[in-house]
Amino acid sequence: MSAALAVVILAAGKGVRMKSARPKVLHAVGGQPMLAHVLAAARALKAEKIVVVAPENAEGVSPLAAQWDAQTAIQKSPLGTGHAVMAAENTLKDFSGNLLVLFGDAPLMTAGTLQKLTARMGSADIAVLGFRPADPTGYGRLVTKGEALERIVEHKDANEDERRIGLCFAGPLAGRAGLVFELLKAIDKHNAQGEYYLTDVIAAARKRGLNCVAVEGSTEEMLGVNSRSDLAMAEAAFQERRRRELMEAGVTFTDPATVYLSADTNIESDVTIGPFVVFGPGVTVRKGAEIRAFCHIEGAEVGAGAIVGPFARLRSGAVLEEGVHIGNFVEVKNSRLEKGAKANHLAYLGDARIGAKANIGAGTITCNYDGFKKAQTDIGKDVFVGSNATLVAPVKLGDGAYVAAGSVITEDVEADAMAFGRARQENKKGRAKEFRSKKAKDK
Ligand code: UD1
Ligand code: MG
Repeated sequence: MSAALAVVILAAGKGVRMKSARPKVLHAVGGQPMLAHVLAAARALKAEKIVVVAPENAEGVSPLAAQWDAQTAIQKSPLGTGHAVMAAENTLKDFSGNLLVLFGDAPLMTAGTLQKLTARMGSADIAVLGFRPADPTGYGRLVTKGEALERIVEHKDANEDERRIGLCFAGPLAGRAGLVFELLKAIDKHNAQGEYYLTDVIAAARKRGLNCVAVEGSTEEMLGVNSRSDLAMAEAAFQERRRRELMEAGVTFTDPATVYLSADTNIESDVTIGPFVVFGPGVTVRKGAEIRAFCHIEGAEVGAGAIVGPFARLRSGAVLEEGVHIGNFVEVKNSRLEKGAKANHLAYLGDARIGAKANIGAGTITCNYDGFKKAQTDIGKDVFVGSNATLVAPVKLGDGAYVAAGSVITEDVEADAMAFGRARQENKKGRAKEFRSKKAKDK
């Protein structure tokens, strides 16, 4: 059996290059903080312990760590990546297995690649993940001799020859926990940035004759986000990866590059997604559904075989059961549409239940808010709501009820009743002609 694993995720840097009031690792990729991506990868490795190293007063970092069942250690001032790892030592004082260090600003790293790194723990004392970026500027360079890794030199400390090295440090570093902490005690901050570099652990290990190796990973996973343009690059790479995974799982995209997904977007097989669709967090789309062009969907569930759009908006708590149709310019929020219900044009359905096979006419509005509180609309099965009806909640339409077009409904309608909530029409014979000739004379 392989040794137990603890993961330390560094998230306490200043993130100055982001020029942001928000901690860097809380900036989102795929609608989810970068740190959550890294936590997910750590969880997938079945780590026994996960420790997030956070700065003091970083709102949002500890709660996010807790959500993933990870502990938080505080690095009082950001004196470098080596110093940050040391901040986790006390939290791990009773842990004797392997340690994997990850950077909270590298959201694209997959558990599969990290596994290749931890797998080297049997044969090497320290293993790091390397990659060959198109532009290595800013990254630490891996100085190797044959198979062996001799040291890592930071870009700012590297001479011209070293800067020509294409193989760079991605961030992940693995070794026995006790050994890594021991080696870190030997490093200093006599370097270009005046920081305790985690990367100096390699030279310290080599000094003691220990065996260090680099495992090479694919470039698209290794991007470290330091600036807003890096963030945009990570987003683009993430989107491309998720779309590819979904296509491999049997989802059709008419024009993949125009569809925006979230990290948790769950789309089943035989779903078709038209062009220009945006999925915010918390969406599930069941088998065979069709999402037509220009829809915006978040916090919603789309049932099997349902048809949504074009130009529809589903907000949080929208649940469409099997075979529901939602057409253009329809907005649904916190409402359940039961099997086969339809709202095909221009409607707002909020805080409502819409029964099976009900038909909601164009222009129907559930008035769910009176400026103070929200109220529910309950629409039974087989109800027909005529065009431009205003349903003032709380209100209930019994099964099979019929609402005349243009009605303002303020009282419950019993099952199978027909409700008219508008003035009766009166036609005055010949009055139009009279009116016209009078007006012509006056002129
Ligand atoms: C670091 C590496 C570099 C590597 C690159 C990969 C070092 C010295 N350099 O550079 O070799 O090629 O990542 O992306 O390790 N952090 C703390 N406390 C600190 C400083 C940083 O928690 O005192 C955290 C940051 O929040 C971040 C991570 O450590 O998540 C990396 O720090 P960053 O400043 O981004 O390092 P890079 O300059 O990118
Ligand atoms: Mg970085």
